Amino acid sequence: MKKLDYIKMNSRYYVETAEIDIQHQEIMNMINNFIVHCTGNKNEERHFFDRIMETLINYFGEHFSTEEKLLSGTAYEKYGEHKNEHDTVLEKLKTVMNDVKNNQRELDLYDLTDYIRGWALNHILEYDKPAKECFKEGKKIHAERTGWNGINQFQLYITGPSGAPPPPAALTFAALP
Ligand SMILES: [Fe+2]
Ligand SMILES: [Fe+2]
Repeated sequence: MKKLDYIKMNSRYYVETAEIDIQHQEIMNMINNFIVHCTGNKNEERHFFDRIMETLINYFGEHFSTEEKLLSGTAYEKYGEHKNEHDTVLEKLKTVMNDVKNNQRELDLYDLTDYIRGWALNHILEYDKPAKECFKEGKKIHAERTGWNGINQFQLYITGPSGAPPPPAALTFAALP
């Protein structure tokens, strides 16, 4: 059984805004959990998918709106293109979820996980990381407007050594007010 590589958070992925980095870590934990469940056992994979796919989609949606909230109102030039990337992947994932649930598409958990993993890592490096100064600016604007300073203390959650199954997700989602 082929196995995808687990994702490990490292400084390459940091955008240096705590809320975003924590959410990216949580997304990586979720994807690692998908990798754990790619067992080749179709019934187990389908059971896992039915249990978790909506949670993943909802978390992606909340994460995207956190980013969009921070970026809107800043000088960020690629806002439209960036938002479009978010909207497109959400639509795709929802379509897959509905098709599988309605038995209109056979679930290939490995392929799906490979797709989500590739999309997320690529998106962080190609879109989120280049926007890092705008996230910081957005946070400043948001704090001035609402008096909210976000998380002052946070624990970055580092997954275990490569190849070891990651521990269960332990982060709380930090939403902007
Ligand atoms: Fe992101
Ligand atoms: Fe993004």
